[in-house]
Amino acid sequence: MVAVDGPSGSGKSTVSRRLAAALGARYLDTGAMYRAVTWAVLQAGVDPTDAEAVAKVAGDARLASGTDPAHPTIELDGVPIDVEIRGPEVTAAVSAVAAVPAVRRHLVAQQQDIIADAERIVVEGRDIGSVVAPDARLKVYLTASAAARAYRRSTETDADLDLTAADLARRDRLDSTRATDPLARAPGAEEVDTTGLSVDEVVARLRGLLGE
Ligand code: C5P
Repeated sequence: MVAVDGPSGSGKSTVSRRLAAALGARYLDTGAMYRAVTWAVLQAGVDPTDAEAVAKVAGDARLASGTDPAHPTIELDGVPIDVEIRGPEVTAAVSAVAAVPAVRRHLVAQQQDIIADAERIVVEGRDIGSVVAPDARLKVYLTASAAARAYRRSTETDADLDLTAADLARRDRLDSTRATDPLARAPGAEEVDTTGLSVDEVVARLRGLLGE
């Protein structure tokens, strides 16, 4: 079990998928689960800041996470929503939904079940090493300069660089200051600054830390 945490644009997804494939492990993107609940909230016409209504939607949502690192998927009530969860509406609302304690309890329990069923798994998110799997064999906290993170995200999404930088700063602030399970380096986590490193270099460093 490898826990990979860090802010948006730190390289978590690319690195975690590549590491999982190299290790013959499963891969779980917990951000996709928070995004899927957010999609359900928006579809239901619920205000993302209405904690009680959001918790109800989360409790009723049937999520299914596919954990193949070559083809990770997410379904809500049997319907694939991989494209929908990457849209700007979901990105704008996800930090509010992820701040609701009942949503976190619900999704953390699901994530722990998925981890328990897997022989080897790489899990990425914001609270994996601190809350979801504090006993992970390796805990990593990926960082990168704000400029590098905004540049990577804007090339991935084709979005304007300044708008992307502002969105990342906003989500970092919300994710790091929320009361429940804020984004933070977990005790015992190895911090890796990916600024200026290629994906191969980061994966090689993590394999070195694992001794594999
Ligand atoms: O990783 P990604 O950018 O897709 O995550 C979307 C949002 O989900 C984050 O901004 C954060 O608010 C939330 N999240 C979280 N805890 C996790 C994973 C994601 O709060 N373990």
